Amino acid sequence: MTDQLLIAQLTDTHVVGSDNTEELYVDNNDRLAQAVASINGESPTIDAVVVTGDLTNTGTQPEYDQLVSTLAGLEPQVLTLPGNHDVRDRVRASFPDVPWVDQNHASWVVTVGKARIVGLDSTIPGEPGAEFDTERAAWLRGVLSEAHDGPTILAMHHPPFATGIEWMDNAGFIGLEGLDALLTELPVDRIICGHLHRPIVGAIAGITAQVGLSTVQHVDLDLAPAAPLSLILDPPGYQIHRLVDPSGHAPSMVTHTRLFETGNQGFIPSWADEDS
Ligand SMILES: [Fe+2]
Ligand SMILES: [Fe+2]
Repeated sequence: MTDQLLIAQLTDTHVVGSDNTEELYVDNNDRLAQAVASINGESPTIDAVVVTGDLTNTGTQPEYDQLVSTLAGLEPQVLTLPGNHDVRDRVRASFPDVPWVDQNHASWVVTVGKARIVGLDSTIPGEPGAEFDTERAAWLRGVLSEAHDGPTILAMHHPPFATGIEWMDNAGFIGLEGLDALLTELPVDRIICGHLHRPIVGAIAGITAQVGLSTVQHVDLDLAPAAPLSLILDPPGYQIHRLVDPSGHAPSMVTHTRLFETGNQGFIPSWADEDS
């Protein structure tokens, strides 16, 4: 049997508290509950779940209480990162089992099986955009310089590339050229992100960087220059990253998307029993 490692990625769950007064496009909390039930039902079982930020909608304590309560239902290990809608210190306090670095960014390194997962906090408190500053650069250099016999996945909230959806890109990524230079030197096999509320694939320093899909509303696909903000109710879901033979030095990572609430049921076509 193939030696495989399955890592699920949830992103942009935007959980709300019972005191929420903001207009919602979908029931954010119910969507996360559906995702948790779906992940628990995956077979083979998932080895770990990475949640790449915008865990909550506005970063209030009741929102984190709700988030922790729902994620407690997940059977695999849960690893969280802050997004621009989160409050860094509340994310740290809400998930005390995550080995947060004791610096001015909520980052971590965790080994799952043979895979090294590096969670890099890309947020700037109170700002929508991203930053890779000197403190984070020194930390990431130190982490990636340590020998590791297996693949390395870098997880972060903001994608390290411009997507072409201008109103989302406009928030910017301070220090992106520094991240590019560092990743040119040091080993990362794949980058997984969130923030865009839409599955997208790009690259930085020759490394595939991909954005997962949100469990709530999505960002509309409009690549016209200066296109206005536009949201769309695409089917929600999460992704499953499958690493094959993760002890090898040429790891293969394939990403699958699990949609839920599509309204579709699986079926077996009539020709399935035919010899041809
Ligand atoms: Fe988000
Ligand atoms: Fe975000």
